[in-house]
Amino acid sequence: MRFFLMIFAWLVLGLCFLVNKGECLIPKSLLKDIHSVNKGGPYIGVVVPNGFEMNPLLQSSSFVVNRKHPYLDISGRRFRVGTLKNQRVIIVMTGLSMLNAGITTQLLLSMFNVKGVVHYGIAGNANVELEIGDVVIPKFWAHTGLWSWQRYGQGPESELPLESNGDYTRNVGYLKFSDYNNDTSIDNLLNNVWYQPEEVFPIRTTPETRQHVFWVPVDKHYFKLSKKLEGMELEECINATTCLPRTPKVARVERGVSANMFIDNEAYRTFLSSKFNATPIDMESAAVALICYQQNIPFLAIRALSDLAGGGSAISNEASIFAPLAAQNAVAVLIKFVQLLSS
Ligand SMILES: *[C@@H]1O[C@H](CO)[C@@H](O)[C@H](O)[C@H]1NC(C)=O
Ligand SMILES: *[C@@H]1O[C@H](CO)[C@@H](O)[C@H](O)[C@H]1NC(C)=O
Repeated sequence: MRFFLMIFAWLVLGLCFLVNKGECLIPKSLLKDIHSVNKGGPYIGVVVPNGFEMNPLLQSSSFVVNRKHPYLDISGRRFRVGTLKNQRVIIVMTGLSMLNAGITTQLLLSMFNVKGVVHYGIAGNANVELEIGDVVIPKFWAHTGLWSWQRYGQGPESELPLESNGDYTRNVGYLKFSDYNNDTSIDNLLNNVWYQPEEVFPIRTTPETRQHVFWVPVDKHYFKLSKKLEGMELEECINATTCLPRTPKVARVERGVSANMFIDNEAYRTFLSSKFNATPIDMESAAVALICYQQNIPFLAIRALSDLAGGGSAISNEASIFAPLAAQNAVAVLIKFVQLLSS
């Protein structure tokens, strides 16, 4: 009997069962609100890096706030509840970079009844065939910030430390610093860094049994559906006189990359393009992708390109003028995609 009471208490009190209310991450009253929100689900989770990118969505007439629970605050994040084109959504802002993006996405999926995640924002561009203002949807994302940094004197034939344990690998490839000396015949003490796949622990596998993944695929169905976005009309001008060089477009592309690095460097941008065939370069998408991959939740990312990362295009000096337009276009594509999902 006592056992059943305990189970019952566990179900009712959830995470707070064993700790004092004051110490708990999720107080009982909040748990009740989460439960109430979840009864209105399932939701599409809309995950966005910062306010600059989120505000045009919140201000859009397409977003209708839930009256009973406009938002719930959990662990320093605000989960905004509402509908977008009749699709139930929870919108959450992560903050900058991979750790914030991963934590926030995990919180979203752990707390709420979410059937899919759509991530959007702006990004640097590594693809010279596309222009500022274009909105891209990659098929794969990788985290390109996990490295094994090789000691000076060793090369591609040398085994990496802990490689034999399966911790690190030479499968993905490397960046050789001396390739970026002005005189490439001179060695560079920074030697090589080797890109590493992420260790992942997908649900419904034995806990603590790691797998590895570098290229995380987006959801097949979502990606197929996103084809309908190509040809969509996007905003070209910020006012009557200041316009982009050409009308921006939506393009599905092969690959995007993310890392805790703001890339404003032409040499590295060119490397990311030639080595990884990357188009958008950002600081969050791969983290959101990795969490959704492990939680087995459909995922897609929509990123509007700001200027070529590291400069080089004719309008690079005007990139900041067009950043709000890029954010607006990302929001327009997101809304259209959510609409497609509900139809
Ligand atoms: C790079 O090398 C070229 C050719 O050797 C030389 O003309 C140029 O001044 C060098 N640039 C720098 C920054 O050292
Ligand atoms: C349009 O925007 C640009 C850039 O902000 C500004 O320099 C220009 O004066 C604006 N033109 C009009 C007609 O408002």
